[in-house]
Amino acid sequence: MKIDGRHYRTIFLDADGSAVQVIDQTRLPFAFELQHLATMEDAARAIRTMVVRGAPLIGVTAAYGLALAMREDASSEGIERAVATLAATRPTAINLRWALDRAASVLRGAQARERVALAFAEAGRIADEDVASCRSIGEHGGRILSDIAAAKGGRIDVLTHCNAGWLATVDWGTALAPIYAAHDAGVPVHVWVDETRPRNQGAALTAFELHAHGVPHTVIADNAGGHLMQHGQVDVCIVGSDRTTASGDVCNKIGTYLKALAAHDNSVPFYAALPFSTIDWTLNDGVAEIPIEDRDAREVTHLTGRTAEGGFETIQVVSPGSPVANPAFDVTPARLVTGIITERGIASASPEGLLGLYPERRKAA
Ligand code: MRU
Repeated sequence: MKIDGRHYRTIFLDADGSAVQVIDQTRLPFAFELQHLATMEDAARAIRTMVVRGAPLIGVTAAYGLALAMREDASSEGIERAVATLAATRPTAINLRWALDRAASVLRGAQARERVALAFAEAGRIADEDVASCRSIGEHGGRILSDIAAAKGGRIDVLTHCNAGWLATVDWGTALAPIYAAHDAGVPVHVWVDETRPRNQGAALTAFELHAHGVPHTVIADNAGGHLMQHGQVDVCIVGSDRTTASGDVCNKIGTYLKALAAHDNSVPFYAALPFSTIDWTLNDGVAEIPIEDRDAREVTHLTGRTAEGGFETIQVVSPGSPVANPAFDVTPARLVTGIITERGIASASPEGLLGLYPERRKAA
């Protein structure tokens, strides 16, 4: 995506290949700053502290983290140690585990002296494939939006939750890719952006992206979506996912489930957009089986923002002494999901629907 006229991916190698660069998402939207990841520990910390976030992007960052680890210790023990450290950074998004499994399996079969080059090449391939997947998701999902616009004969209103745009992937995004594709094709799209407490990925990151791309949008408090749907002001919801089960249960940022319930009650179509790397073929019951990350209470009790003078300030917003819980994700059961938009097309949220798009999984089952 373009920022100030320059095209950026969210993760890329330095010109001399010595370090990995990422956009520091904890500074957005007020400062656009890059961070250098020179070691595996840098990559693990960037994921843990959400300098990088979003399921596909943390997968790619982990793959580069493994490559950086190979520079320090390319032994077989070094591979397993790095995989264990990187896999422990965030528990819910399956893309992280998927990317590590893929990159590590390439390395395990290779000589130690080949591992650095192989690991960087594999991380680069995973990144490039993510861009291609997201572009295809945009094309497939964009058709849904242009069909809705054609049927309606005017501007369409899309509601999205959290940030599933280019900042959450390597480029384009998942839920936002159809919006970019439709907007670029001249479809009149307006986006309702859920602020997405507690970390405000919607207000900070989705709004930043849409503004940079010139897509009309309005930020709303998380609680506003149901009201807007009741009043016919939302034509379709599109969200991303951190892990989707083989049965079509969609795990995504906390609050997604409530939006799906409101969409169901108001007959608003509700889509999840995700690449194949987000599907966990080993799980069927998302509510019971997907591990939900518990994050620091401070994300709920405190807010950080820009002061009038241009600095950053953190303030407390919860009554001191009250206990706080901070589950970071929830699961929307497949019955509430109209369809799953993938790089291969659109599937019903069901085992048959997903296996129809990924028949090679039928053989493996
Ligand atoms: O906690 P985050 O910011 O990593 O959560 C991100 C989301 O929930 C996204 O919607 C999801 O990763 C899909 S990203 C294309």
